[in-house]
Amino acid sequence: MPNPTATEYPKKVFMLLNCSALLMSLLIVFLSTHIRLGEAGLGCQPWPECYAQLSFADGIKGLQIPETAFKTFRAMHRHVASILGLNILIIMLMSIRYRKQISPRLPVLMFLVVLFLSILGIATPTRSLPLVTLGNILGGIVLAGLIWRQIIRIRERTEVSGPRILLLLSITLTLQLISGAWASANYTGSACPQIFSCTYTENISANIVKSFNVFRHLNLDEQSYLVLDVSSSIVQLSHRVIAVILLLIILVGLWTVKARHPELLKPMYIVTGVFIAEFALGVFNVLADMPLWTNTLHNLLAVGLLFATINLTTQIHFNKK
Ligand code: HEM
Repeated sequence: MPNPTATEYPKKVFMLLNCSALLMSLLIVFLSTHIRLGEAGLGCQPWPECYAQLSFADGIKGLQIPETAFKTFRAMHRHVASILGLNILIIMLMSIRYRKQISPRLPVLMFLVVLFLSILGIATPTRSLPLVTLGNILGGIVLAGLIWRQIIRIRERTEVSGPRILLLLSITLTLQLISGAWASANYTGSACPQIFSCTYTENISANIVKSFNVFRHLNLDEQSYLVLDVSSSIVQLSHRVIAVILLLIILVGLWTVKARHPELLKPMYIVTGVFIAEFALGVFNVLADMPLWTNTLHNLLAVGLLFATINLTTQIHFNKK
């Protein structure tokens, strides 16, 4: 019998499987964001009184698809997620078979994330527990990021040196993605109707720890509408503050790359461009009373920013300058 680890692995097939997984993961991010925010009434009229109605999903457990305006999207989500799971299983099995040429580390991680998302989706569809929604949003983003990183690895690059500020950029972006997912999981979209001012601001310092308690439950009224409070303002405001910190880091990063690492200038320009679009979209959404479609785009662009940053930092050896 031939030794499978010694055979040349079908690179084109592997690449194709990863590209289709990437497209499907993006579709899943789009569909899940759109369904979740749409069913909660994002951008509804009269805004914001009609937003953050969280009742129906709490009663539905298991595989049943609820009767809502988003039923078709929900069915699509279910089918695409199943095909994606199968696709990633094949990627993982291939990487194990050809483990001498492809490291199975990323494919196994991808498979574990898919498993985590399926269990989360079937077992706990509740929306009044932000931790569950956070897991869902971040799971989708992480999965897309892992597939993208796998695709970049197939292309085989040589290692280059880069400034430490880019490491800080990656860490702050991760924080910002978590902060955005937390802002969304807590339905804080209407808490700060203007860019620099929020509705509830009393006793901010006494409520900071409570606002970031991952085990917190949302406070709902008798019709299952979210009752906004100072925690909603803190969570939403912190998302905006981190966005500004990230802006500063990106500007310093761009300046450093321009001065000392011209070979990284093109991927750095891409990161800067996507960041500016994402920042502008965040501001637009707030000023335009949170339209559903542009908010869905805000999440997709966040994934785009993650891709651009992975593209910039993969294979960088960080130095002190
Ligand atoms: C520039 C970097 C930014 C990144 C990477 C980012 C990322 C994210 C992410 C991942 C979400 C969760 C999307 C979801 O699944 O629903 C989110 C939500 C949100 N972001 Fe950002 N964001 C950024 C900047 C901003 C800015 C500058 C603003 C406003 C000034 C903003 C306002 C919001 C709002 C209002 C939400 C939704 C809250 C809700 O769903 O109730 N973001 N962001």
